Amino acid sequence: MAGVDFVDVRKSFGAFPVIKGVNIEIEDGEFVILVGPSGCGKSTLLRMLAGLENITAGEIRIGNRVVNRLPPKDRDIAMVFQNYALYPHMTVADNMAFSLMLAGKPKEERDKRVGVAAEILGLAKLLDRYPRQLSGGQRQRVAMGRAIVRDPQVFLFDEPLSNLDAKLRVAMRAEIKELHQRLKTTTVYVTHDQIEAMTMADKIVVMHDGIVEQIGAPLDLYDNPANLFVAGFIGSPAMNMIKGRLDANDPNRFLTADGTALPVARPAAAARGRDLVYGLRPEYIALDPNGLPAEVVVIEPTGYETQMIARLGGNEVTCVFRERVNAKPGETIRLSIDAAHVHLFDADSGRRLFD
Ligand SMILES: Nc1ncnc2c1ncn2[C@@H]1O[C@H](COP(=O)(O)OP(=O)(O)O)[C@@H](O)[C@H]1O
Ligand SMILES: [Mg+2]
Repeated sequence: MAGVDFVDVRKSFGAFPVIKGVNIEIEDGEFVILVGPSGCGKSTLLRMLAGLENITAGEIRIGNRVVNRLPPKDRDIAMVFQNYALYPHMTVADNMAFSLMLAGKPKEERDKRVGVAAEILGLAKLLDRYPRQLSGGQRQRVAMGRAIVRDPQVFLFDEPLSNLDAKLRVAMRAEIKELHQRLKTTTVYVTHDQIEAMTMADKIVVMHDGIVEQIGAPLDLYDNPANLFVAGFIGSPAMNMIKGRLDANDPNRFLTADGTALPVARPAAAARGRDLVYGLRPEYIALDPNGLPAEVVVIEPTGYETQMIARLGGNEVTCVFRERVNAKPGETIRLSIDAAHVHLFDADSGRRLFD
C-alpha cells in the first residue's frame, strides 16, 4: 500500500488548460473521492495518476516514488472503469485472471488469487459464467475482482456506479465501502454525485473547472464550506442562498433585498457593509408559531420527512421538516431560523466570511 501526492499538477490539451495547479495529499489506506460537475477534470486527473495521460507540469507520487514518466504497468495501480471493460468471450474466472496471466503468474497462484477475490465479492458460484449472463451489479463486481486479484498499491475508480439503477447503486456503494474497510487499500474514486462522495469517502476533494475548491472530511465540508461553490454543491436539497446585507445598526440582522430581516448569530467583522449571501441549510428552518410569516409554495411529503418550498419575504426557501405537515399551497405558516447554523459569504469573491 502507498499514499499518493499530487504536487502543483497541471494539464493542457493543446493550448486549453483543464487542470490548473492541483495539490492533493492522500494518506496510505485512505478512501478519497474526487467530486465535481461534469467536465471539471476529475477523469483527467485520475488518468494522469494511472499513467494513461501525460502531465503538462507538476509531480505525481505514489508512495514517495515520482511516477510522472512511469508507464501504467509499472505504477502498481488497478483501475475500475465506468463501462467495466470486461472481455465478453471470457468467463468470469478468466476475466479476473487475465492480468495475472499477462504478468506470467503460474496457474496455481492465479486460481488462488481469483478464488480469494471471488469469495470476497460473492462471485464464487459465478466463475464459469460469461459477462452477458450476469446482472449489472455482478458485472460491476467482476470488474472490481479484476482489480483486487492484482493486489495493487492503489485502486482507482472512475464513476463505477453510473451505469446501475438507483437501488443497486445504493447497495454497491455500501459494498465498495465495506470492501475498502476490509482490504484498506488506498483508493481514489471519481464521481459527479455528491451523495456518493458524502456516503463513501474518508476525504472529499471538491473540484470545479480544473481547480480544487476544498478538501475535507464529508461532514466537515457540509458544516464548514469554504465558499459558495462547495456550499451549493454539497448537500441535498441544496443550501438556500439569499442575497442581502447586514443591518448597519444591528449586525445580528441580515436584510434581504425586500427588507425582510433574518437572524445572524455571529456576524463576521468582515461582513459589515458588504454585499453578502446568507447561506441556510433546509434543515435549520423550523415550524414555529412565533416565527416569521411565510407562504407555502410547494409541499412534498416523502413519508420520512416533509420538504417544502416557502416564500419568506421576497425569497423562496427550501425547508426540510422531520415531521408531517398539514399545510396547503397559498397558506401562511410561520418559520424560525436556527441562526447558529447560518453562514455568511462574500457575494463578490464567494468566500465564506468567518466570525
Ligand atoms: N483528450 C482530450 N482532448 C481535449 N480535451 C479533453 C480531452 N479529454 C478531456 N478533455 C477536456 O478536459 C476537460 C475535463 O474533462 P474530464 O477530465 O473528462 O472531466 P470530468 O471527468 O470531470 O467530467 C473537459 O473540458 C474535456 O472536454
Ligand atoms: Mg469523467
